[in-house]
Amino acid sequence: MDRFYVTTPIYYVNDLPHIGHAYTTVAADILARFNRLLDKKVFFLTGTDEHGQKVQKAAEQRGLSPKAHADIMVENFKNLWKQLNISNDAFIRTTDERHKEVVREVLQRLYDKGEIVKRPYKGWYCTPDERFWTEKELVDGKCPDCGRPVEEIEEDNYFFLMSKYQDRLIKHIEENPGYILPETRKNEVMGFLKARPLGDLCISRPKKRLSWGVPLPFDENYVTYVWFDALLNYYSATLYLAPQIDNLIWWPADHHIVGKDILTTHAVYWSTMLMALDMPLPKNIFAHGWWTVEGRKMSKSLGNVVDPFEVIETYGVDPFRYFLFREVTFGLDGDFSKQAIVGRINSDLANDLGNLVSRAITMAFKYFNGTVPEPAQEERELKKLAEGIIDQVRTHLEVLAFQKALDDIWTLVSYLNKYIDTKQPWMLAKAPDRADELKTVIYSILEGIRFLSLYMYPFIPDSANRIYSCLGFEDGIGNGSLKNLKWGELKPGTILKKPGALFPRIVEEKQKKPQKEQKPKDRKTDGGSKMISIEDFAKVELRVGKVLDAERIEGSNKLLKLKVDIGEERQIVAGIGKVYSPEDLIGKSIVVVANLKPAKLMGVESQGMLLAAGTDEDIAILSPEKQVPPGTRVK
Ligand code: MSP
Repeated sequence: MDRFYVTTPIYYVNDLPHIGHAYTTVAADILARFNRLLDKKVFFLTGTDEHGQKVQKAAEQRGLSPKAHADIMVENFKNLWKQLNISNDAFIRTTDERHKEVVREVLQRLYDKGEIVKRPYKGWYCTPDERFWTEKELVDGKCPDCGRPVEEIEEDNYFFLMSKYQDRLIKHIEENPGYILPETRKNEVMGFLKARPLGDLCISRPKKRLSWGVPLPFDENYVTYVWFDALLNYYSATLYLAPQIDNLIWWPADHHIVGKDILTTHAVYWSTMLMALDMPLPKNIFAHGWWTVEGRKMSKSLGNVVDPFEVIETYGVDPFRYFLFREVTFGLDGDFSKQAIVGRINSDLANDLGNLVSRAITMAFKYFNGTVPEPAQEERELKKLAEGIIDQVRTHLEVLAFQKALDDIWTLVSYLNKYIDTKQPWMLAKAPDRADELKTVIYSILEGIRFLSLYMYPFIPDSANRIYSCLGFEDGIGNGSLKNLKWGELKPGTILKKPGALFPRIVEEKQKKPQKEQKPKDRKTDGGSKMISIEDFAKVELRVGKVLDAERIEGSNKLLKLKVDIGEERQIVAGIGKVYSPEDLIGKSIVVVANLKPAKLMGVESQGMLLAAGTDEDIAILSPEKQVPPGTRVK
């Protein structure tokens, strides 16, 4: 059976998700979605890394148990994946009982085989940081991290005999050119492996120093080193989280996608662990580059960490997903800036793709009453181009060349735009003797757009589905849609729908970010108590309002300006425009936070906030269940 297994790193629960996490996870999502379109059985895994020193310490500082801390923090990732439209089949947490059982079972197996041994370990220990350094790493004899004094400690620990796999690993990498990609990263790993003898890997931590980990099955005085536990997630998940299909065996993975900083742990530790276990190695480990922000390294201390929730709120999910993979070659570093993302949205999505779809459907409404015309002939060149793209995209995505795949797809976008300009359907419509030609032209553009929606689906799933449904396909883009893709399957007579604004242009000077208090709640839970008192709740003045007027805010695809009667007239800006049109809202009863400080969104003052549930793409307004006069307090 044709199957496809892709993973992301499991993310530390300590950090809030940033653009780097979003990047890897969307990359895996694109591959998963593409392979589902090819009708493969797909297992797409992501999750969180929850053991180890840092988690234990952060939890202690908060007065929480490490698990309680992880339970709160994990929601940030789960929320983000929901908002980013990530189609993972499973979410692994290293605190899952089943995962821990696998870790212990593997450790025992390696111990029984003599692959793990106990040895004295000597190093310089920084007590406040609770970690060892080697002599070479010290700076002026002090901890290189915090600058405090270190003490020399000798203790017994368990070691995985990694060194003996050095030659085998070199050979494997040489014989499998696609094992580590991109090539430059492979060369770095090879350089490292060939330069010096590989050491053995200390895989235990004494419980007296670190209790938050998986206990070693053969010595309960120790817990497992966090990386040894974490890497095993890729295998353990196949045993208890992967789809059960006809006894399908999911290991090995097709791709582990990781950032360049964690390539060594994957290429060296993980590969040799698998060798020691006599298990097959993954088919590929791909190390992507890092995002800088407006030319600078992204860091908490610089305060420039890109919050993916904010990017989604400002630009929308699909434009963000598209930007990440169109802007830079996967594998190289990239720079994130407002200017770059706005440029991409306006030129590629609004001008090229969005305009194409809206022009085509508008013409079909004008000339054929909103139905697909019967073509008089087949446009061979266009057909060949459209059908041919699938092989190019497949070849590129096999090596994670997302940008090249998009380039290929864009040849069809450009062709269709040029085709409209040269055929000039508006002229054909004026010449009664050219009616057949007009039918062919409009049909061919619509059919070309059908191909585009399928090709773009892995990158911008929501928008692609919207386009697809405008072409009369109500059921959405399903598994296998790219398998036998043939020109001419759009049926003449099909009733079309208008797409609305797919990718509104962004007007730059109005690029202000919404104010903090206007962000949807419940996105980030940074721990602490989640409970509030009734007095706290009473501070929020909720009132029933009636929408008197509504209009779109220029330059935004989701913001609407409402006039609302809440006993007095208020102007409220609401981010619901992707789902509701102004006409849907006039006369509607809603619920409003009436005592919120006014704030400006894209330069428009909002004197309150409307309550709604869901994501930008799938949101529902809260409305009283029966008629209640405007201004009534909600309690
Ligand atoms: N828990 C380990 C992974 C274990 S996998 C068995 C870990 N977690 S992490 O939360 O720190 O992972 C972060 C991921 O985000 C890594 O792949 C890292 O490369 C990536 N990035 C961190 N900063 C980044 C950028 N500025 N840009 C792109 N990716 C970045 O490591």
